[in-house]
Amino acid sequence: MTLVLKTSEKAIAEAANIMASGGVVAFPTETVYGIGADATKRDAVEKVFAAKKRPHDNPLIVTVSNAEMASRFAKLDWRAEKLIENFWPGSLTMILPLIDQDILPDNVTAGLLTAAFRNPKNDVTRHLITLLNNPIVGPSANLSTKPSSTTAEHVLHDMDGRIDAVIDDGPTEIGVESTIVDLSVKQATILRPGAVTADQVSSVLGEKVIDPTGPISLAANIAPKAPGMKYRHYAPSKAVVIFNQTDLKDLKQQLKKNDAVVALEDSLNQLKLDRRHSWSLGETADSATEELFSALRFFDDQKDIQTIYVESLPSEGIGEAYMNRLEKSAGGQHFGL
Ligand code: TXA
Ligand code: MG
Repeated sequence: MTLVLKTSEKAIAEAANIMASGGVVAFPTETVYGIGADATKRDAVEKVFAAKKRPHDNPLIVTVSNAEMASRFAKLDWRAEKLIENFWPGSLTMILPLIDQDILPDNVTAGLLTAAFRNPKNDVTRHLITLLNNPIVGPSANLSTKPSSTTAEHVLHDMDGRIDAVIDDGPTEIGVESTIVDLSVKQATILRPGAVTADQVSSVLGEKVIDPTGPISLAANIAPKAPGMKYRHYAPSKAVVIFNQTDLKDLKQQLKKNDAVVALEDSLNQLKLDRRHSWSLGETADSATEELFSALRFFDDQKDIQTIYVESLPSEGIGEAYMNRLEKSAGGQHFGL
C-alpha cells in the first residue's frame, strides 16, 4: 500500500524521513508529478527504475531546491547563472557538465558526463528537498511510456503498492514536463519543449538557442542526446489520432460509438457529443496543455473506447509543448491521412 500524505509540515517531514532511509515518494511540481528518491543513494534510485519499469539507459532529472545545491554536483557557466536567475524556481531543466563523473550514482546519469538539473516551482517539494539536504531524482510519476501524472490519483493509478508514499498537492498547474535545455554544448540546445519557450531562453542568453524540437525542424534526423529519449512516450494503449479544426465536419460524420473526442470547448459544441465520449480542453492553449494527459488517461481506462481523437493547436508558445506530447502520443497519426 502506498501512503497518501498531505502537505502539512508534519507530512513533509515524514516524506523526508522516508527518503532519508532510502524510500521512494512521489512529489508534486508545477509541471507534472515526479517520483523521488535521494539522488545520492544508488539503491534508492534503483527502486525508482523498478517502480516505473524504466530502462536503465534513460538518465534521471536531479531535482534541487536552489542553485547552490546544483553547484555541489555540476559546473555552472554564465549561461546557467543567467537562466537560473530568470527561470528558477520554474519549468526549465538544464543539462550541465558534472564536476566529476562519480559525483552521482551511475544509474542517475546512465554513465553520461552530464546530468539534468531542475528546481521546481512548488514550495512543498522544495521544502522537502531542503529538509533532506540532498537532491532527489525526479522522473515523471507514470509507468514508462504512459502519459505523465498531473494528479495524485494518476500517480496512485500507476504506482499504488509500487512506491512508499505520494504527497497530494492537487492538480499540477502546467500539465506537461519542463523544458530541457542542453548547456553541455557550445550552442545551447532545446531537447524538450515546455512552458519556458526557446525564444524566452534565447532572449535571456542574448544568443539564439538551437531548437531541433521546434515546428519547422528536421527533428526526426537528430540523434537522441540521452539514449533513453528514443523510447515511445505519453502513449495510452488506445489509438490516438490528431485532427485539425478544418476536419470537424468530416470527423462529425465519421464518428462511431467507440470513439472519443478531446477538443477545445468551441469544437466540442460543433460536434454535439455526449459528455461520456468527449473531454473539453477548455478555451486556451494553457488549459488544453493542463488537460491533455488527464484526458488521455481517462479514455484509456474506458473499456468501450477504441480511438481517441485529439484536437491540434498552433505550435507556438505553450502550444509547441502541447503538440510535441500529442504527436508522440499519437505516434504521428493524423485524421484523414
Ligand atoms: O517537469 C519535469 O521535468 C518532470 C517533473 C517531475 O520534474 N520530470 C520529468 O522527468 O519529466 P523524466 O525523467 O520523465 O524526463 C527527463 C528527460 C528524459 O527524457 C531523459 O532522457 C532526459 O530528461 N535526460 C536526463 N538526463 C539527461 C542528460 N544528461 N542528457 C540528456 N537528456 C537527459
Ligand atoms: Mg517521463
